[in-house]
Formats: sequence, C-alpha cells, structure tokens
Amino acid sequence: MGANLARNAARKGFKVSVYNRRSERTEKLLAEHGDEGVLQGSTDLEAFVQSIARPRPIVIMVKAGKPVDEVMEELIPYLDEGDILIDAGNSLFTDTERRSAEMAQKGLRFFGMGVSGGEEGALLGPSIMPSGDKDAWARIEPFVMKMAAQVDGEPCAAYIGPGGSGHYVKMVHNGIEYADMQLIAEAYDIMRGVHGISAGEIAEIFKGWQKGPLDSYLIDITVEVLSKVDTKSNKPLVDMIVDEAEQKGTGRWTAQSALELGVPITAITEAVYARGLSSRRSQRDEASRLFKVETKPPFKASAAELADLHAALYASKIVAYAQGFEQLAVASNTYGWDLDLGTLAKIWRGGCIIRAAFLDRIREMYAKEAPANMLFGPYFADAMQESLSAWRRTVARAIESGTPVPAFSSCLAYFDGLRRARGPANLLQGLRDYFGAHTYRRLDKEGSFHTRWSQDGSEIDA
Ligand code: 6PG
Repeated sequence: MGANLARNAARKGFKVSVYNRRSERTEKLLAEHGDEGVLQGSTDLEAFVQSIARPRPIVIMVKAGKPVDEVMEELIPYLDEGDILIDAGNSLFTDTERRSAEMAQKGLRFFGMGVSGGEEGALLGPSIMPSGDKDAWARIEPFVMKMAAQVDGEPCAAYIGPGGSGHYVKMVHNGIEYADMQLIAEAYDIMRGVHGISAGEIAEIFKGWQKGPLDSYLIDITVEVLSKVDTKSNKPLVDMIVDEAEQKGTGRWTAQSALELGVPITAITEAVYARGLSSRRSQRDEASRLFKVETKPPFKASAAELADLHAALYASKIVAYAQGFEQLAVASNTYGWDLDLGTLAKIWRGGCIIRAAFLDRIREMYAKEAPANMLFGPYFADAMQESLSAWRRTVARAIESGTPVPAFSSCLAYFDGLRRARGPANLLQGLRDYFGAHTYRRLDKEGSFHTRWSQDGSEIDA
C-alpha cells in the first residue's frame, strides 16, 4: 500500500522520496514505476530525510502497533523542528494520541491518517481521513486532496480534527465495513440455507441488486467473488474457501470503544462475534455432530421472498450505519473533536471500502439536519417503515430454517427496542434494587427510591 500511495502522489505531479528498510523493494518500485512521475529512492534513512523539502511531510506506512513506534524512533533523530510524521496505517486512535503528544514535546508534528480503499484505492484514489496539528494541515492538504478519490468534483478527504480523531473515524469506517460484510454474508447464507440456491445463482440475484438502494462497492465485489469458478475443482471458488474469518483488530476496537462510550452498536459487535465464532473450528465440528436439530428444510424462493430479503438487507444496513454514526457523534462529544458527520458521509462516497450510493443520502440528511439518530431522518424513517414487515418475515424464515442471522436479527431487535416508548428495563431496575439497593426512579414522582423488598416491603426515598 505504501508503494501505491507513493505512485499515486507521483502520478499527481508531486516529487516523492521513497525509503524501505529492504532496499530491494525500493529498487523494484523505481524499476517498475519510476517513469510515472518524480520518484526518488534512498537506501539510507538519513539521505531519505535530507532529500525532502522542509518542513518535511513524511508518510509512514507500516503494520499498526510497535512497528510504527520503531520507524518513528529511527526517523526522529534526523528530523528538524516543524517536520511532520504522518502515520497512514490502521493505528489504534489512543496510540495516535500518545504519539502526537510525544512528537509535540520534541517540537515535531504528527498526523494520524486513516486511508481506506485497499491497494487499488491507494493507487487510484483512496478515501483519506487525516487528523492532527491544524497548523500542519496547510502543508499536507494539497497532496492529500489531490491523491484522494474524487466524487462530483469533490475530494474524498477532509481534515477530520485533532489528535487521534482521523484514526478513530477510520476505525469506525472499518467497523461499519465489518457489519456491512456480515449482513451481505447473512443474505448469502439465507439464500443458501433457507432457499437452497447455488453460489452462481446467488451472484445473479446480487447482480440484480447492484442498482438501487444497495448500490455499493461491497455488493459489486460480492457479485465477482460469487461468480468466480475455481479452475482446479470447477466449482464456485467461494465453495472451496475455508469458512473461518480472520481479523486484524479494527472491528474489535470499534466494539470496545462503543462499550466504553455506552453506544449500542449491535451490528458491528455481532459481526465481530460472528468472525470469532467462525474461527472456533473444532467446537463447530463437534457441535455439528452432536446437535441434530429439527429445522424447516430449504424451499424454493419466490420473487416475493427475494424482495423481502432485499428489504431486510437494506433496513439492517441502515441500522448498522445509524449505529456507527451515533458512535462517531458520542466519541466526538466525549473527546471534544467536533466531528462533522456530513463531511464523513461525503468523504466515504468514493475511494473507501464502504463507498455506496446510500452515503449520499446520509450526506444530504446531515446537510439539512443532525437528528439524534440517523433513523429519524425522513428518508431513512420512510425506508424503515416500508421494510419492516419484510424484515420480520426474513428473520423469521432464517430462524425456522436454523440459519444464524446475528446481524440481521440484532439490527431488528435494536430497531424494535428503540421504537418502543416503554421497554422491560423497569424490571431490571426492580431486580437491581432488590439485590443491591441500587434504587429506581418512578413514573409518577421525581427522585430515587428503594424498596425494602425482603424486609417490610416499604418504599423509602433514597
Ligand atoms: C480499508 C480496509 C483496510 C483493511 C481492513 C481489513 O478501509 O481499506 O478496511 O483497512 O482491508 O483493515 O480488516 P480485517 O483484516 O480486520 O478484516
């Protein structure tokens, strides 16, 4: 990805210096792509730093975690006051905050820069989420804005805020990516498990969904992945891929942060759990032998059932994004970042993995109003209302056939929990008060109260 970012900048007319610890990588890049612009390679770190005009913006693209600190330690002795290190990996936002503070103490500047779009995006135009010293932004802005994907003539990049806010935003982007992918995988599983449809036919169904409200990069690549035939077995390649999902951590971090902030992001968290469960290979094998469960056998899908599934996928997707945006709003208030949610929807319209037509609807909504929950925006409220019955039927069919749909069903449960003015938490409060005297509030008067449940049953003003 680092090489592709360098090529992207060179192609846009910027002079780029490149350095890799393994000098053969630098040589290969220059040999294969040196003619794409002004790309200058160094085999020596000091020479690399000296080749850059001051104040030097230096992009670091290495694995998140310790490698970032190691590269920074190597670079810092050669830097001059005001130079700017830019970490373009998927770093944990708290690491970025720490690194920013450490750099500031040395008179140096630091940017955490979320970059989404994979290898191809890095080359052709990613979505870029930079944060850090505002006074360093002017130095970085021209190349960030030009390297980013462009949608309707606008760059898919913007200054996000101070400290680790850019990496936080990128982290939630990835969390939403997890949820979106899990929902697509569940739709695929419903077509397999509930309706017995083959991978090739499922690809055709997704193809029919490419245009319309689900229009997105992830649906496009779903069609490609499901259509691919394995040359060795002559079967759909997807049928030959081991069903254990790996993860590098950004989805888990999103869920951890949401738990700390108290934001219910059920879709993202269920997507992380689903990956965890998928990797419990031996337990799954044992359970599949042990539990012979009675379920409804697969039945041929009618057009109406597929229309229900489409509606259920769309409604669940809206909930997943609404939850992600709420997390961003709460994090922004908690950490004082002043995030502009409309801008985030705007810069995710192109370049990134979750790019989708749908993000334009989110951007439009935030341009007019900032409801407490994205679901309250008129466009989304109507979509939820229209999809609700189809969504329930789809989840019910999946449950009857024994097809697990944790993201579909948790999104529906979240929606049902949200739309009820009165839920069952009154009983939770009663139980908490019973065993721990934690007190409760009453509907009919102000204050906190405790009942002496197991003593004389009287209520006291707490
Ligand atoms: C992106 C991707 C990118 C990476 C994910 C994969 O926005 O370009 O999200 O950052 O592909 O981190 O994450 P997992 O390995 O955890 O699925």
